[in-house]
Parts: sequence; structure tokens; C-alpha cells
Amino acid sequence: MKDVIWITGASSGIGEELAKQYAQRGNRLILSARREKELERVKALCPHPENIAILPLDLTDFEALPDKVAQALTCFDRIDLLINNGGVSQRSLIAETDFKVYKQLMDINYLGTIALSKALLPYFVGQKKGHYAVITSVMGKYASPFRSGYAGAKHALHGFFDALRMEHHQDNIKVSLLCPGFVQTNVTINALTGDGTCLGHDDPATKNGLEVGAFCRKAIRALDTHAWETYFGKKEKFGVYLKRISQKALHALVIRSNVR
Ligand SMILES: NC(=O)c1ccc[n+]([C@@H]2O[C@H](COP(=O)([O-])OP(=O)(O)OC[C@H]3O[C@@H](n4cnc5c(N)ncnc54)[C@H](OP(=O)(O)O)[C@@H]3O)[C@@H](O)[C@H]2O)c1
Repeated sequence: MKDVIWITGASSGIGEELAKQYAQRGNRLILSARREKELERVKALCPHPENIAILPLDLTDFEALPDKVAQALTCFDRIDLLINNGGVSQRSLIAETDFKVYKQLMDINYLGTIALSKALLPYFVGQKKGHYAVITSVMGKYASPFRSGYAGAKHALHGFFDALRMEHHQDNIKVSLLCPGFVQTNVTINALTGDGTCLGHDDPATKNGLEVGAFCRKAIRALDTHAWETYFGKKEKFGVYLKRISQKALHALVIRSNVR
């Protein structure tokens, strides 16, 4: 029996493409995000829509998430892999960013993901098998200007899930942290600005990023092998390695590259 996979942020971009590729492989899927109509659209585009359940949720509605886990477990009577993909980016300087935007970025990207994953944990522990995937970012490994809150939330995910992997290795629970650089999606258009409104337009870095289908094929290969931490992207990927050698060299390079 093929794995049952629950994907958050499945209404667009990376989550949508993961849904299509896993559906092509014959997996049964549970698709979550806030916009139910978009989830229905994605379901209709997938092969074997009868193998796909829709479960709308808002990652910031923490109290509702345990009930969402209970509902997800009734869709196909099991879950093998939770792909924590739902998230929102940021484009604003620290000095120009309202504190409430930092809270929003943490709520969506970090606390919502933690709340959902923690609510599923007793089930994974009970069946002595489970796999958490987290779409973090190269911004979970280093930072760049205009993304202070986003980078903070993505770094925090690494702290939590590295600890979870240690605490539950005897329960046969796997954790895969997938760290993309730029991928061609609406992530920049949807990024929060200093007052919490969306940026509303794309930028050249995202437009010239990895094609979403190509990224998802690589991501699925990493998940098939239960890889612990994988980096994807073009030159921005090498920032992860450069930071290990010289944090000051990375700092100088990022400032020089003037990335917005
Ligand atoms: N594209 C890139 O360059 C890039 C690079 C590194 C990391 N990432 C990460 O990849 C993940 C997917 O992003 P994407 O590139 O596919 O961007 P996207 O097209 O904007 O998709 C974001 C997804 O997150 C969902 N989402 C946002 N807020 C939510 C909330 N409060 N509750 C539930 N779902 C919510 C959205 O659905 P609804 O609006 O329907 O809720 C949407 O499905 C994110 O975690 C992002 O940080 C992307």
C-alpha cells in the first residue's frame, strides 16, 4: 500500500506541485491550506482525484489543529508523511517592520507548523513509524536583508525539528528538512511587507529561481531516502557552505549582492 501523504500549503506553488507529482505516483493525499476553492482546483488537476482528500485549515488557528489531525486520520485511516510546507515570506527592513508582522511570520511559519506536527506526534509514536518533512529555506541556515522575521522563523524550525529527531529516533520517526533557495512560485508576491500587507509583485531572483517542477522532483527524491537536511537552488545554495567556512565572507557577499 502506497504512503498517505498530508501536505500543507497545497493550494499553490510548491505544495500544489508536490501534490501533482505524488498523485502521479499513486499516493493518497490530504491537501490543506486556507483556500478551499484552490485546494479543489489542485485536486481536479491531479490524476486519481478519488485518492485525494481536502482538509482546509489555517496554521495560525492553533487551537483548531488537534481536531484537524483527528479529521486527517479519518480520511484514509493512516498518515505516513506530513509535509509541513505552508508558509509566508517577508520583504521589509527591520526598522520599517511593525512588531505585529514578526508575530504573524512566527505564527504561520513556526508555531502553526509546530502545533500541527505536535498534534500528530502521538499517532506517529503509537504506530512506531512516521515521517515529518519541513520545507524550510536556505534562510533557515543563513539570513539576508529584508527577511529578518522570515529567516528567524525558518531558523527556529531547524531547532525544533532537530530536537524532535533526537527525542523520537527510537520511535522510528524520521525528519527531513528541505531548504530551497529561489523557486518560481508566488512566494514573493505573497510576502509580507512592514505593515503586514502583501508585496503584490514578483522579483527577478524568484522569477529566475528553480522551476517548481524540477525542485519538487529533487525534493521527493530526498524524501524517498529520508534525507535529514538538503539544500536546493542556484548560487544562493552555496551560502550555506560558505557560512561554515567564513561567516564574514558570507556577510560581505550577501551585502555586495544587494539582494532585495
Ligand atoms: N518559492 C521559494 O522561492 C521558496 C524558497 C524557500 C522556501 N520556500 C517555502 O516553501 C513553502 C511554500 O511556498 P511557495 O513558494 O509555494 O509559496 P506560495 O505559492 O505563496 O504558497 C504558500 C502556501 O502556504 C499557504 N499558507 C499561507 N498562509 C497559511 C496559513 N495561515 N495557513 C495555512 N496555509 C497557509 C498558502 O495557502 P492559502 O493562502 O490558501 O492558505 C499556500 O498554499 C513556504 O514555506 C516557503 O517559505 C519557498
